[in-house]
Amino acid sequence: FGLKDVFFNDFLVGAAVNEQLISGKDSLALKLVASEYNSISPENVMKWMYIHPEPSLFNFEKADSYIDLGVKNNLYTLGHTLVWHSQAPDYLNKVNDSAALARYLENHITTLVTRYKGRIAAWDVVNEALNEDGSLRQSVFLKYLGEDYIKMAFELAEKADPGAHLIYNDYNLWKPEKRMGVVRLVKQLQDNGIKIDAVGLQGHWNLSEPSLADIEQSIVTFNELGLKVHFSELDISVLPNPWDLVGADISQNFDENSYMNPYPKSIPDSVQMALANRYQDIFRLFLKHRDKIDRVTFWGISDQGSWLNNWPIKGRVNYPLLFDRHFNPKMAYDSIVALK
Ligand code: XIL
Repeated sequence: FGLKDVFFNDFLVGAAVNEQLISGKDSLALKLVASEYNSISPENVMKWMYIHPEPSLFNFEKADSYIDLGVKNNLYTLGHTLVWHSQAPDYLNKVNDSAALARYLENHITTLVTRYKGRIAAWDVVNEALNEDGSLRQSVFLKYLGEDYIKMAFELAEKADPGAHLIYNDYNLWKPEKRMGVVRLVKQLQDNGIKIDAVGLQGHWNLSEPSLADIEQSIVTFNELGLKVHFSELDISVLPNPWDLVGADISQNFDENSYMNPYPKSIPDSVQMALANRYQDIFRLFLKHRDKIDRVTFWGISDQGSWLNNWPIKGRVNYPLLFDRHFNPKMAYDSIVALK
C-alpha cells in the first residue's frame, strides 16, 4: 500500500529512477518503486549522450534494464527525452548542416520509439525548447532545422509508435510568458494536424515559488487546449536559489551551523513543517484538478539521491522529496496522504 493506492482514482504517482536503482544496487529504493509508485521516468539513461553517443552507435543496455523494471512491475513507463539541447553528444553539438541533423534526428527518434514500442507508455518528445519569454530557445535544432524541428520530432514519434502518449516537457511553465509560448507551440502542432497529447510541467519548485494561482492557471490553460497535464519532475528545494541572493558569493554565504550550509547534517523541524505544508497545498490543488492531471512524478525517490544535492551548487545538501536519506517517509509524505 503506497502513494499509488492513495491517489489511485486521481492520477498516477511516479518517480524518476537513477542508474543505481535500475542496476539493482539500491535495494531500498527498488522496494519503494514497487510499493509506492505506478509510474517511472528514466533520470538519465535514455538521454541522447548516453543512449546514442556516436552517429551509428546506440547503447541500449541500461535503457533495456529500465524498461524491464517497468514491465516487471507493471508501471506506466516514461521515455525521457528524445530531443533536448542538454546532455547531447559532441557530434550533435558540432553538426553544421541541416541534412545531417535531419538524418540524426530521424534515426534517433525512429530507432528508440520503435525499439520500445508498446512498452513506453509516454514520451517526452521535446524537452525545454522555450526561453523564459516564451520564444524558441537557441539550439542546434533551431539553428539548422528552424522551428519545424518540433513538428518533425512529434511526427516521427507518432509514426514509430502511434499508441504512445506524446508530451512537450519544460520548466517554469507557471510563468505567464512561458505558458503562452507553450500555447503557441501546441496550436502550431494542432493546426498542422500533428498529434500532441500532453504538457509536462517539470515542477522544480521551492517553498515560496511558484504561487498556487500560477500553477492553477497553467493547468486550466493547457486543459483548454485539449491536452492532459503531467507534473513530470516534482521536487521542492528547501534552500535558497543562489541567483536570488543578489551579488552573493555563494561559497561564503552559508553559516556553518545553518541548514543552508553546503553540508548540513539536518534541517530544523520548522523547515520540515514548511515543506509538508507546501506539499499539502500543492496536492490539494492537484486533487481539485484531478480530471485534468494524468500523472504526478517526483524527480527521485529519497533526499539521498536527489539531483538537487548537486545543483545548482555542487555538494550542497537538499531535502526536497518525500523520503529521507534512510528511505523513511517524512512529514511531507504524511501531509499529502492526510488529504485523502
Ligand atoms: C537532471 C538529472 O537529475 C541529473 O542527474 C543530471 O545530471 C542532469 O539532469 N530537467 C530535466 C531533467 O528534464 O532531465 C534533468 O535531470 C533536470 C532538469
